[in-house]
Amino acid sequence: MNCIDPWGKIEIKDYNTLCDKFGIDKFFKILPKISNPSLSMRRGLIFGHKDFQVILKAINEKKDFVMMTGLMPSGRFHLGHKMIAEEIIYYQKLGAECFIAVADLEAYLTRNISLEQAKEIAIDQYLLNYIALGLKPNKVHFYFQTNGTKSYMNLSKMISKKTTFNEITNIYGETSPVKIVSALTQVADILHPQLKEFGGPKPTVVPVGADQLPHINFTRDIAYRMSSEFKFISPSAVFNKVLPGLKGGKMSSSDITSYIALTDSPKDTAKKIKNYAFSGGQATVEEHRKKGGNPDVDISYQLLRFGLEENDKKLEKIYDDYKSGKLLSGELKEILIEKLTRFLEQHQEKREKAKNLVDKFLFN
Ligand code: TRP
Repeated sequence: MNCIDPWGKIEIKDYNTLCDKFGIDKFFKILPKISNPSLSMRRGLIFGHKDFQVILKAINEKKDFVMMTGLMPSGRFHLGHKMIAEEIIYYQKLGAECFIAVADLEAYLTRNISLEQAKEIAIDQYLLNYIALGLKPNKVHFYFQTNGTKSYMNLSKMISKKTTFNEITNIYGETSPVKIVSALTQVADILHPQLKEFGGPKPTVVPVGADQLPHINFTRDIAYRMSSEFKFISPSAVFNKVLPGLKGGKMSSSDITSYIALTDSPKDTAKKIKNYAFSGGQATVEEHRKKGGNPDVDISYQLLRFGLEENDKKLEKIYDDYKSGKLLSGELKEILIEKLTRFLEQHQEKREKAKNLVDKFLFN
């Protein structure tokens, strides 16, 4: 693998190799320095970072910093998106000013979605779920790529002067006008919070999935090349592991049997878990008792680990009991179903109430 195609499908076998190949620092090395790590940090769901020490310094010295990320409005909001949303909220609680780009232009260009559809998905799927998960309207810029400020729009074009066709081909592989425009727009998304209009240069953390890696490296190079003109500070990034889908592979909104959406009914969810969640258990109860299960490949366990069981001690006990054979696959699924039912019921109630708050995010 020489390139990662952020618009294609990627499958990551080994996160360590990925780190080495793309010059990403391993997150576990910086973890002990973080006084109040998030769940994703503690559990190794964030595997790598770029310059996170810059953000740590800003947090420790109570200096201003920015959290910037983007969403692709192309499908239903599922548990994989919840993981990133919780990271956003974590930084907001630490005092970050939050910039959230709705990648409606990118969805239009690369996913055949109309701007109207993109807007509807962004609000109905993403924004409502963000609010229900705890995002507050203060210090949030929730904006659409097709409706950014003039200085943002200009920046997205000025960036083209700082790169070459060859460089883009090297980073992204086979390229096209659509990909070039999407990439330059994303660079502008990440850098524009540092424009004068938004308060000037400051540390920025970009929480993203591993598939967005090429954009981060490209943006950091551009930031450097524009530094004499704009004084940009190279943005920092944290990289999340891909949440596995129910049957293994990736949790993807294009396959309904791979994901749990946050608007799925608890009843349908229980059915999906029972029918599709890949089990790391043995074929028979006797064998399971004797040999134990494999939590590392068991999707029900993995979903608990990716956030549905928030208590580290309880999660550890589930791991040990499953591995020793004390806990059976069916019982593990029941634990997950119970957690999910409670979560979805409460979340969907909050999501209804969130409808009253949408305007606060769209017109601030
Ligand atoms: N390309 C991202 C995706 O496919 C969305 C995105 C647009 C983004 N602008 C961004 C992500 C800026 C991080 C930062 O999901």
